Amino acid sequence: MTIELRPVTENNFVEWRKAVRHGFGQHVHPDDITRLKNDRAELDRLIAAVDTKSERIIATGGADSYSLTVPGGATLPMAGVAYMTTSVTHRRQGVFSEMMSRIHNEARERGDVVSGLWASQSHLYGRFDYGLSVNSYDWEIDPAFGAFSHSPISEEHESDTHLHFVDAEEAAATLPGIYDRMRAQTPGAVDRTSGRWRYELFDEERVRGGASALFFAVCEEVGEQTGYVAYRMRRMGDSDMGTLEVIEQVSVTDTAHASMWRFLLNFDLVGKVIATNRPSDDPLWWMLSDPRRLLRKSHDALWVRLLDIEKALEARAYNADGKLRLGLVSESEPEVSGTYVLEVSDGEGAVKKTTDKPDVVMAPADLSVIYLGASAPGPLVEAGRIDPITTRSLAKLHSMFSTYSAPWCAHYF
Ligand SMILES: CC(C)(COP(=O)(O)OP(=O)(O)OC[C@H]1O[C@@H](n2cnc3c(N)ncnc32)[C@H](O)[C@@H]1OP(=O)(O)O)[C@@H](O)C(=O)NCCC(=O)NCCS
Repeated sequence: MTIELRPVTENNFVEWRKAVRHGFGQHVHPDDITRLKNDRAELDRLIAAVDTKSERIIATGGADSYSLTVPGGATLPMAGVAYMTTSVTHRRQGVFSEMMSRIHNEARERGDVVSGLWASQSHLYGRFDYGLSVNSYDWEIDPAFGAFSHSPISEEHESDTHLHFVDAEEAAATLPGIYDRMRAQTPGAVDRTSGRWRYELFDEERVRGGASALFFAVCEEVGEQTGYVAYRMRRMGDSDMGTLEVIEQVSVTDTAHASMWRFLLNFDLVGKVIATNRPSDDPLWWMLSDPRRLLRKSHDALWVRLLDIEKALEARAYNADGKLRLGLVSESEPEVSGTYVLEVSDGEGAVKKTTDKPDVVMAPADLSVIYLGASAPGPLVEAGRIDPITTRSLAKLHSMFSTYSAPWCAHYF
């Protein structure tokens, strides 16, 4: 049996899309094939693996193009790896690995500095040098326990913040501007094209899973739009009490965040508020007078691989000046292995490869974890993932890489 990796074209796109959904155990609605093609997919970034005996697509893969914000606010071109499936009839023959290496090579040729993905299983991508670079929480809270003990909004400024509902059309015009301002100041955030906004805001009945159509509210502060929420209501049977499901809540200021959550925890006839993919350091926890009531379930969000180590390290800002020799050991790409000297002056890094002995040794995946600030290096040392070789190298690594806030990727792909 021979398997060939082939391009995806107008001719095989429908078969390819069906194969992707099939790989995840789903059927696809015909309109969704058109939607994906018009609003999201970049044909020249997609791969179809074909069994040459049957001439059928038996595995799929590809990437979307994104721009990733890194600490300090710079953005890097990122291959957003997605659509990875191998049919159960052809598993464990190395097709997935071959497609991943094709995607990485093509991404480098295009100039992508990083690649990122959301994983269906958290043990799949470490072998390709991906590190868990963004963690997030799913929340559940009974709004009866939603009182705040603290808030960044003083009584004097309470009237500066206004919330209003907008309809789907106004939301489509308003939300992208607010999202973009959040993205510019949030490490781990990625951009959304106008097509992708259409794709995300698609809200026909069949995608609502029995809940209401989307509701949207926008926060305005002194004439500026500083936050939004998209949510659905779900009611069980004849019960008046429902669940408010926050689909996305984005804020640009602390005050917008506080007034949005004051609003979301203040509805009549809601017995539960749930929200998915909240930042791991979201301040709501510190604002609630009874924080234990906010149930938080953590999950892995964005996995990142640094495709160009030097460029990636030079793009981010650092918290402390200094010089550190980072030893990287890559099992998937031996040419990436070696020692990189990082010299930071005024918060800016310069990097070059050297033959010097390293101060600290880790896998590229672990560099990805501390790169965006998902974790301080200490726990990775304790987990046996980072080896601080020379005295004080852990303290140096910690002070250079530490970030003001945890990374967050509001956009799932
Ligand atoms: C995950 C999936 C794409 C792997 O495809 P595949 O072609 O069988 O993978 P490969 O043969 O290239 O395997 C690559 C490596 O991953 C390992 N691996 C793959 N899937 C695994 C799984 N589910 N659990 C544990 N290990 C797995 C293989 O053992 C192999 O390890 P090795 O390199 O040490 O030998 C496929 O099982 C699938 O389609 N799953 C359902 C959809 C899905 O979850 N896709 C991922 C989306 S993020």
